[in-house]
Amino acid sequence: MSHSVSKVSKARFIVLGAAGALLAAIAAIAVVVYSGLYNVAADIPHTKPVFWLIETMRERSVAVRATDLAVPGDLDNADRIVSGAGQYADMCAGCHLAPGMKRTEMSRGLYPRAPELRRGSDLSPAEEFWVVKHGIKATGMPAWGVTHSDEMLWDVVAFLRKLPELSPEQYQALVKEAPTHDEIMQDQPKQKMEADDGHGGHAH
Ligand code: HEC
Repeated sequence: MSHSVSKVSKARFIVLGAAGALLAAIAAIAVVVYSGLYNVAADIPHTKPVFWLIETMRERSVAVRATDLAVPGDLDNADRIVSGAGQYADMCAGCHLAPGMKRTEMSRGLYPRAPELRRGSDLSPAEEFWVVKHGIKATGMPAWGVTHSDEMLWDVVAFLRKLPELSPEQYQALVKEAPTHDEIMQDQPKQKMEADDGHGGHAH
């Protein structure tokens, strides 16, 4: 009998030990959070483990959500690329820069850095679309799908595929050819613009 009693107390010891370790871990996290130990300043890089954690989480999060997206077959269509160029110049270049463009104050201060998209990207078109539509939390990368239709954002992706090949002159020529931002936004589905209550008063 004493044999099974010692088995029970051993199991109890393990369970209590695990619960104790868990409590200690939660307490340690609480101390780090509440003491203000971690520096959230954008001019000090993350520690290596935190950087790894966030980067891996972002890559996996985007990859998993982009797998089932249907990519249009006409991303090399010239009209798409022109429309995307106009949108890029208005909505993206301030952070991601463009051929022939100097770094902006905003691009210099962002952390994480906004990658210079003219240098190309490891992302697939579906992943680029997902990021552009939904944005990335706590990075400055906005969710453009709140105000823009999927079709328009595929135009942006079409342009991103072309961007690494463009000289400053070719880039400028495409932007000049594109409709202005106001013209583009007139074509947006009504509910996208109406859902936007922060726009107070100016006409679209
Ligand atoms: C206010 C600044 C800002 C603007 C404007 C902005 N972005 Fe971003 N974007 C970022 C930042 C910062 C990141 C990096 C996020 C990260 O590393 O987690 C990013 C990431 C991305 C990525 C992912 C790149 C990669 O390789 O992981 C893509 C694609 C992208 N942006 C496209 C766009 C497009 C297209 C637009 C315009 C429609 C745009 N962004 C506008 C700041 C911006």
